Order: sequence, then structure tokens, then C-alpha cells
Amino acid sequence: MKIIPVAAVLAAFAILPVSEAMAVDGKKAFAKRCKSCHDINFEKHRTGPNLAGIMGSKAGTTDFKKYKALKGVDFVWDEANMDGWIADSKKFQKANKDMFAKKNTTMSVKVKKAEERAAIIEYLKTK
Ligand code: HEC
Repeated sequence: MKIIPVAAVLAAFAILPVSEAMAVDGKKAFAKRCKSCHDINFEKHRTGPNLAGIMGSKAGTTDFKKYKALKGVDFVWDEANMDGWIADSKKFQKANKDMFAKKNTTMSVKVKKAEERAAIIEYLKTK
């Protein structure tokens, strides 16, 4: 009986570094792909809106003044939407016209690799 908790503790330690490693990769990928336009620390807006707390929040609801495609929309940034958006923001808008405002988005980003998108999304969740 005592073996089970020990195994559980070992398993927990085995899992932890993997998720930490993913967060590190996501941070780097974010720095490379997103940071030039997006701050993520509740500080300021850049070319794009601040992304602190973005996962699970309603799109287009920061006090960023220059929303275009995202002005007044009614959807939430879940993993599927975020994945589509950063895979190809313009194409995602086109494929989901009903979700967006009539103006074309001013964000033009294509993160082609699924692993890189997943790592960025994991990183966004920590912020
Ligand atoms: C060249 C500048 C630029 C880059 C690079 C960029 N974005 Fe954006 N982003 C914008 C702009 C501008 C908007 C507002 C778009 C609109 O309203 O049409 C935006 C909007 C967003 C939103 C919506 C926020 C909200 O308040 O609903 C998310 C999420 C987002 N970007 C994520 C990312 C991620 C993640 C990356 C990196 C993979 C990235 N962006 C790279 C400019 C950029």
C-alpha cells in the first residue's frame, strides 16, 4: 500500500519539468513572434492590445483604442480560437466572418508550426 503514494510523488516530479519546459519555449516564441506588438504584463498597449490574462477572456475588451476586426465582437479566446488566430490571423477572420466586425484585421501573423502555437498558448495561460 505504501508504494502507491511514492509512485504518485515521483510521477508528479516527472511531469513538472515538462510543463515548465513548455512555458519556457512559449516565452521565447512569444518574444520572437508577438512581443514587438504586444505587451503581456498589464503595462501598456503597443501596436496591438495588451495580452495579460487574454486566455478565456472575451475578445476585443481591453481599453485598446485601435481595435479593427475585433471591435464589439462576441467571442472568447479559447484554445481553438487562439490557435486559428495565430496560425493565420487574416485567414481566420475570413473563415469566421460572422465572429468578426466588418473591418479587416490589422494583425497579420502566421505561426505555421502547431507545436510553436501550442507553446505560445501555454505561455499565454500563465499570464
Ligand atoms: C505586427 C503586429 C502584431 C504582431 C506581431 C502580433 N499581433 Fe496580435 N494584434 C495586433 C493588432 C493590431 C491587434 C488588433 C487587431 C484588430 O482589432 O483587428 C491584435 C490583436 C490580438 C489579439 C486580440 C486581443 C483582444 O483584446 O481580444 C490577440 C489574442 C493577439 N493579437 C495575439 C497575438 C499573438 C499570440 C501574437 C504572436 C503569435 C500576435 N498577436 C502577434 C498586432 C500584432
